[in-house]
Parts: sequence; C-alpha cells; structure tokens
Amino acid sequence: MSKDLIVLGIETSCDDTSMAILRKTKDITEVLAHTSYGQEDSLKHWGGVVPEIAARNHLQKVRPTLKEVLQTSQITLDDIDLISVTTLPGLLGPLLTGLNAAKTLALLYKKPIMATNHLFAHLEAVHIDQKVNYPYLGLLVSGGHSIYFLVKNKDSFTVLGSTIDDAAGEAFDKGGKLLGLGYPAGHIIDKLAKYGDTKKYEFPIGLKSSADARLSYSGLKTALRVFLEKNPDIANQIPTQFLDKENDKQAFYDVCASYQHAIISALMLKLRYALNSAKEQGFDKLPIVIGGGVASNSYLRSMLNSKYKNAHFVSKKFCTDNGAMIANYGILHHDKAISYPNCLEMDARGRFLDKKAKA
Ligand code: KG4
Ligand code: ZN
Repeated sequence: MSKDLIVLGIETSCDDTSMAILRKTKDITEVLAHTSYGQEDSLKHWGGVVPEIAARNHLQKVRPTLKEVLQTSQITLDDIDLISVTTLPGLLGPLLTGLNAAKTLALLYKKPIMATNHLFAHLEAVHIDQKVNYPYLGLLVSGGHSIYFLVKNKDSFTVLGSTIDDAAGEAFDKGGKLLGLGYPAGHIIDKLAKYGDTKKYEFPIGLKSSADARLSYSGLKTALRVFLEKNPDIANQIPTQFLDKENDKQAFYDVCASYQHAIISALMLKLRYALNSAKEQGFDKLPIVIGGGVASNSYLRSMLNSKYKNAHFVSKKFCTDNGAMIANYGILHHDKAISYPNCLEMDARGRFLDKKAKA
C-alpha cells in the first residue's frame, strides 16, 4: 500500500449506530474520528433489543453519525477511498439499514465498498493500535457469539470451538436481568463482582467434563434463577444504587462475583482445549487475541494475563460494537472491495454458520 488509505466504517448490526474514519499510512493506522450512538432508552423500555425498533433507531441516527465523523475528521466524502460496512452476522433489519446507507454513499460518490464480517472485525481490531503477528488464537466473546478461532492469516479463520447455546455476553445479560441490574448487564456485574467473593457460591460450568472447546451457558442462568428462588433474602438485596459498595449487600456482591467466576472459568477451561486443538494442527505457542464486548471484562483480563504471557486484548474502546473495527477490517481487505456499480447486489446475512469461514 503506497499511498494513504482513508476508510469510512459503518456498523449497525445490533443496537449501536457507529461510524469511524481511519487513515492507514505505511505501518500507522490513525483513528481520525469515531462516534457511536447506543439505544439505551429503547433497551431499558423493552428489556433488550427489538430488531425492528433497533432498525428504525439506526435509520434516525445514520445521518447525524456520518455528519459527526466527517466534521471531526475534517475529511469529505470525496476524500474517502473505501466504505467498509458490516454485512454479517447480526439482526437483519439493523444490518440492512447500514448496508443501504453504505450503498447510497458508494453510488453517489463512486466509491468501492467492502462487505465486512463483524466477528472477524472484532478480533482484527487488535491491529488498530497493537502489533500481533499471524497465526494467532482468537477468542471472540460478545453478546451473540463465543467462538475460539484459529486465525492462520487475515484470510483464514477456522472455528476450533464455540458455544452450543448462549454466548458469554448473553450469560452476563440474562443473569443481570435475574439480578435486577437492567440490560445489558455485563459491565455492571463486572463492577459489582469486584466487591464480592468468587468462591462463596458454586455455579455450574457447562460441558466441564467434555474434552473439547465447546461452551454451554444455558444451564448457568437456570442455576442462578433457582438459587435466587431458594435465597429470596439475597434477591431482595438488589442495591438501588448498585455501584456503591454497601456492607449489607455483601451476599449480593458475592453472587455477582461467583456467577462471573463461572462464566470466565468456562472460557479459561475451554481455551486450553482450543490451544491443544490448534497444536494438533501444527500451531503451537500461539499468541491469543481476545475481542468482543466481553473482552472488556476486568476479571477475564486479569485471569488471562496471569496465565498467558502472550495474551492481547483488543483495546477497551474497540471491544463493544464500533465502526473503527469495521473500517480497520476494510483497510486489511481493501483488495476485496466491490466496485460501486456492483454494490447493489450486496446483501446482508443474519447468521454465521460456516465451520471453515473465509474472511
Ligand atoms: O460485542 P458487543 O458490543 O455486541 C455483540 O456483538 O454482541 O458485546 C455486547 C456484550 C453484552 O452482552 C454486554 O453485556 C457485554 O458485551 N459486555 C461485558 C462487559 N462490557 C460489555 N461483559 C462483561 N464484562 C464487561 N465489562
Ligand atoms: Zn459485536
């Protein structure tokens, strides 16, 4: 890549309308602008993401988000070399909103457009501000997915193991709902758990005795529900100001810490199997890259960092869904972009099912 490459990233796969403008110059990637709008009011009102409502909210936010990143970066749409947009996986309505915005811009400004896989983009976001070589073992932990990937190079992502039911973020969010902490709850449980004892209560680790990298979290939330039914005194300790430590809420903090411990211990246990499986395929001593919303979790960070010297977490600001990771993926794959007259054929896909995924 001899000249600068300026890429607009558009992310609307779930509830965040996020855009970013990144410039790649030789070995340096600069984030010129990065803006996200969440849908907190709607999430609070409905207790989660309602796909059609999320799509309508994206529609309202697309123009102001674009205006903001252009203003902040002082870049015009004519200056943009490539538009990178999430096309899979995600909620179809929200995905189509972002994709249609990207197609409109591509046609109006005669720009190439890159169809970006949201999951790969989460992991590859590590390259925005860190140096990690391929091959690596990628742990993608988000609200919708928990997958161990063997990433041989930027074009080869092979699944080593994944959840058979709920994702790790989903386990945080569903547990948070039972604990009365609202949605999403991962970051709140993360904070409250700091005051609690991880060993006070024992919550189950799904597929603990199966010697593979599959995860299962559906039994964990059931265990929490049953626990709270049996211990109404603890359920009643739900703090009104839950971010303040109060001694009489200790049992509640202990539940948060123990529940989080079960989620993270499962990830740690199955990571060993994923590493073994990579080793059997001839990939030993791999660096580990951790991305996705749950990669912000402080307990996961400390557990992994204390056990592995070569663990690289995506920077917190690029962990939850964001346009910068989508723009970054466009930079890495700009040679695969679709020229603007052909972009009308591009489509969005809700699911990511392929065992041997091609980037
Ligand atoms: O990657 P992301 O923004 O969306 C998906 O692609 O799914 O991840 C959102 C998920 C939510 O489940 C949220 O509760 C979780 O990431 N999350 C956390 C933390 N911050 C966000 N989970 C645990 N600890 C955190 N600090
Ligand atoms: Zn995501």
